[in-house]
Amino acid sequence: MAQVTLPGRVKIVEVGPRDGLQNEKETIPADIKVELVDRLTRAGFPNIEAASFVSPKWVPQMATSAEVMERIQRKPGVIYSALVPNMRGFEAALAARVDEVVIFGAASEAFSQKNINCSIAESIDRFAEVARATKQHGLRLRGAISCAFGCPYQGEVPVEAVADVVRRLRDIGCDEIDIADTIGVATPNKVHAVMNRVVQDYPLSQLSGHFHDTYGQAMANIYASLECGITIFHSSVAGLGGCPYAKGATGNVATEDVLYMMQGLGIETGIDLDQVVDAGQFISAALGRKAISRAGNAIAAKRAG
Ligand code: HMG
Ligand code: MG
Repeated sequence: MAQVTLPGRVKIVEVGPRDGLQNEKETIPADIKVELVDRLTRAGFPNIEAASFVSPKWVPQMATSAEVMERIQRKPGVIYSALVPNMRGFEAALAARVDEVVIFGAASEAFSQKNINCSIAESIDRFAEVARATKQHGLRLRGAISCAFGCPYQGEVPVEAVADVVRRLRDIGCDEIDIADTIGVATPNKVHAVMNRVVQDYPLSQLSGHFHDTYGQAMANIYASLECGITIFHSSVAGLGGCPYAKGATGNVATEDVLYMMQGLGIETGIDLDQVVDAGQFISAALGRKAISRAGNAIAAKRAG
């Protein structure tokens, strides 16, 4: 059987504190958010998506972002990222000393309208200004592309639509671009098709896979991405999340499950799985429910004997 060489090391971006918690209905005290980020920092993540400077009318849960960024204990070298939709968000992110600004577009027109209230082209115009300011201040710039494999409003999303947004984000200077399966509909062949297409327009080493597990495909899709040579993945501790603008979307793939698979494949992450399991149990207890991570719950159960 033909063997594909998988990467020896990957970067895991922990998105739970933002992409996970943004979806919670009950207001979560800043203390809990700070404790979560600090635990994730201690577990060894190189990049944590910790905040979102969007309109609190649109995503009320993220209204405490400035306080969270102020109070977390930063570890030198760790990148603390925040979502920024416009210049107002940029000013807030700058004041909060974020290391990486994340602009977030979509490969689907319908989703762009629902999520950020403008067309894809308008969003890129807004982002171009944010991108310039980000670079002027010497910060990293990441671009997220939602609905790269399917959209809750328009259904099919052509591969060329994803490639088009990748080029636009590349042209305004993104250092990294996330290919996101916001509603978790992708399967491995589709992942191969999209990743192999976008790599024609953007460096492989700067592309990341952001998978949701709605249809139980996230781990298979991460493996398919590894086969394409992708070395950056997003995941969410305890499987927190969903998307307020994508009905029925379950959480991002659980970090514990991803780390367990990487360990088994002999792929280095530099992250301590045991501490992530603790962080997952901590946040799940704080939210009053069981973690969604299979590996996290299995490890916790084994420990309890
Ligand atoms: P809008 O209503 O079209 O624009 O929102 P606006 O400029 O008229 O602003 C409306 C109000 O928000 C105004 O306040 C503004 O001042 C205020 P009012 O005058 O009514 O009192 N405002 C702000 N407040 C704080 N910070 C700001 C800001 N901007 C405006 N930065 C806007 C347009 C883009 C602001 C809005 O649509 C928005 O904030 N959307 C964010 C939606 C969001 O965060 N969605 C979730 C993240 S995307 C995601 O999760 C997917 C991803 O994770 C990938 C995946 O999981 O697959 C990336
Ligand atoms: Mg997500």
